[in-house]
Parts: sequence; C-alpha cells; structure tokens
Amino acid sequence: MSSDTLSITDNRTGKSYDVPVTDGTIRAIDLRKIKTSDDDFGLMTYDPAYLNTASCRSAITFIDGDKGILRYRGYPIEQLAEDASFLEVAYLLAEGELPNAAQLAKWIDDIRYHTYVHTNVIKFLEGFRYDAHPMGMLLGTVGAMSTFYPDAKHIDDPANRYIQRIRLMAKLPTLAAFAFRHSRGLPYEFPRNDLGYIANFVNMTFSIGGKHEPNPVLQRALEILLILHADHEQNCSTSAVRSVGSSHVDPFSAVSAGIAALYGPLHGGANEAVLQMLDQIPSRRDVPKFIESVKSGGGRLMGFGHRVYKSYDPRAKLIKRTADEVFAQTGLNPKLEIALELERIALEDDYFVSRRLYPNVDFYSGLIYQAMGYPTDYFTVLFAIGRLPGWLAQWEEMLGDKEQKIARPRQVFTGPDERPYLPLATRG
Ligand SMILES: CC(C)(COP(=O)(O)OP(=O)(O)OC[C@H]1O[C@@H](n2cnc3c(N)ncnc32)[C@H](O)[C@@H]1OP(=O)(O)O)[C@@H](O)C(=O)NCCC(=O)NCCS
Repeated sequence: MSSDTLSITDNRTGKSYDVPVTDGTIRAIDLRKIKTSDDDFGLMTYDPAYLNTASCRSAITFIDGDKGILRYRGYPIEQLAEDASFLEVAYLLAEGELPNAAQLAKWIDDIRYHTYVHTNVIKFLEGFRYDAHPMGMLLGTVGAMSTFYPDAKHIDDPANRYIQRIRLMAKLPTLAAFAFRHSRGLPYEFPRNDLGYIANFVNMTFSIGGKHEPNPVLQRALEILLILHADHEQNCSTSAVRSVGSSHVDPFSAVSAGIAALYGPLHGGANEAVLQMLDQIPSRRDVPKFIESVKSGGGRLMGFGHRVYKSYDPRAKLIKRTADEVFAQTGLNPKLEIALELERIALEDDYFVSRRLYPNVDFYSGLIYQAMGYPTDYFTVLFAIGRLPGWLAQWEEMLGDKEQKIARPRQVFTGPDERPYLPLATRG
C-alpha cells in the first residue's frame, strides 16, 4: 500500500477504506464510496465558509500566514512592491512570467488604447443619486459593460478573453474615476492617453478645470498599494469571480460579482472601519483611554490582527514605509496623529504584543488614502482597482482547468420531511 494514503475505518459498518493523499489533501469525492448501504448517497464533508477546503489548484499566489510570506508567481511581494510597476505585476499574474520589454510595451499600449468608455455610461451614472456609494456605481457599471461588449460571452476563444481582460484593466479606472466625480458633483474628466496608468487615474479623479499638479511620491504610493492588493489567492471576492465565472458568463458579469463581494464590510470595508474608529477618538490625549476600552472588551482595534498572517503581514511593513513617505508630503492632520499614537501605544502594549496583533494592511491603507484626499467610502473602489488583475488571472486559470465544472456546493438539509399541503382555511 502506498504511504501517501489515508486509512479510514467507518465505525458504522466496520469497513476500512484507503484514500489517496495528494499535496496535503484528500479528494472529497473519494469519500463518496464510504456508504452504510447501497442506497446511501455516500459520505460528504461539511465545511461552512470553506475553512478547510481547497476548491482549486492554483499557480498564481502563495501565502504562508505563519511565516508572513506572500508571493505572486514565486516573486516575493517585497521585491515586486519595491521595483515593479502595477501593470508589470498585472501581466505577471495573468501570464505567469514577468514580461520582457517588448511584451510590457505591448501590454501597456493595449491597455492605454481601451481606456475610454461608451458615453452612454455617463447617462446611467446620471441616474444614480448624488450620494450613491461609489462601489454600488462601480459594480453596476462594470456589470453593464457586458451589454456594450456582447462578444465577451465567447469565453472559449483565448483571443477574445484577452481583449476583454484588456478592456477591464483599461476601463475600470475610468469607471472608478467617473463614480468619484459623480459623488462630488464634478464634471467627468476623460482619460488622457499621454499619461501612465496611475497618473491617468489620478488625473481623472483630481483634475479641476483640466489641470492637476502630479505628485510622483503620492502616485508611486498609490501604485504600491495597488500592487500589494493585486491578488490574495482564494479570498471572498476571488472565489465569487471564480464561482460566477464557472457558469461561463462573460468576464464583466463575473468581475462585477467580485466587486459586489468586495463591497461587503468584512472584506473590502476594513480600512473604512479604521477611519470610523478614529472618528470616535476626539484627540491624541484620548488614545490611552481608547486602548484601555479595547483591552477590556469594548470593541476591537480596527486595522490590527489578521486571520491568516499571525507573525506579521508582509504587506504592512512596506505600507508603513509608504505611509511615512506620503505623510512627509501631505503633512499630518489630527486624525493621522491619533492613528500614529494608537499604533505606537498598541505596539508596546502587552495585550497586543502577546496576541501577536500587529497593524495590518488596512490600518495604513485607509490613512494613506485619506491623506491623498480620497473620501472614506471610496477606499474600497481603490482596492477593487488593485484586485482586478488577480480576479482576471484567477478567472483565466479557472477556465483553463479541466477539473473545474460549474461551482455547485452540496448541503446538509435540515428542513422538514415531506408533508401534505394544507388549504389556507385549515391553517391555524
Ligand atoms: C482580523 C481578525 C478578524 C482576525 O481574527 P482571528 O484570527 O479570528 O482572531 P481572534 O478573533 O481569534 O482573536 C484572538 C485574540 O486577539 C483578540 N483580538 C483579535 N483582534 C483584535 C483587535 N483588532 N483588537 C483587539 N483585540 C483583538 C481577540 O479578542 C482574542 O483575544 P482572546 O484570546 O483574549 O479572546 C481580527 O484580528 C479583527 O477583528 N481585527 C480587526 C478588524 C480588521 O482589521 N480586519 C481587517 C483584517 S485584514
């Protein structure tokens, strides 16, 4: 018998089974042969929220939470954030290798060529209320893109998929910037194809009267944040893109499902929560009191701790440095001073140190976005722009995976057994 097996004895029947173990997993379908009788459906696994279930094989992103490792296609996140551009990282995630100069030039050119959106988009943006949440606008407009590009449904054609991925990469910043302008009642600023990806986006959001003074430090900081968010393996929004995409719907619809997932406060909303927490602390002097209230169970220190990273979040170190560079440009405001005091005290406090609660990526990203002038409800939109390359790479990988089918989990039925319909008059 191979040693790479798991022996299972079913105490209900006394029968034993050997199940192959591959890559530290057993195949759930192998358990179906474990039956108590011929008409038994077979054993299933029960795993709410997929806490211990691998739903795919993936060669894109590697995370080791205990060791604080995050790699895209084998490259450490620290090196990519230091040296790569966001579009280079997007290419790496999609194609599996870093581009050479000619490949990168083509990739950038292809994306630059597709930045404009149909002017009808402006008409339906006008239909949103003045205070519409920008994520709601983004998910609606990205979903609507499928009606502008009906050819996107031909997902079996690799050339077609490529052009739709390019369209999404090119148009998401335009749609995001339009949503930003809508919220502020500003006229839309159209893409400028003489600018790079980040510079063009910043110009579309902040330009007034056709003018915006670029700040290279802030633009690079935004680019680093986008790189740090570009993929995080099978998180909620990526699983949503894969799951919806597994029905073979077009990629605009699948990505809008990812945006919908990211909209939720448990996923993309944590950096918003950091700013909301800071609103509850009137001044720097009140920070020790606030820390004490957290320690005595009066709420959590938002932006601290991580489900996966238990030593440190490798992205948080980088982002901390980026934050310092940004604050050197923008200066500190009272909110930032409160945040930095909170960080200082928490990092020295035994409660947080002993529980290995370090600032996570959301702690700093919210502060940086705020310092850059983005309103709180826009932070998740910036996250979506960053995460798009990951969604697209995972969508492409899922479609090419012969083992994948339409996603269709099982359930454990807990409702009533069969019972007869009761006419209304006889119901008590
Ligand atoms: C991210 C998070 C959900 C991870 O939670 P988790 O891995 O399930 O950790 P647990 O809830 O088991 O917490 C372990 C201990 O640390 C404490 N703890 C965890 N995060 C804390 C925080 N942010 N502030 C204060 N205490 C915290 C818990 O109360 C618990 O203490 P105990 O052992 O005395 O009961 C959690 O740290 C959190 O809520 N952080 C704040 C929200 C946030 O920043 N989210 C963004 C994550 S990217």
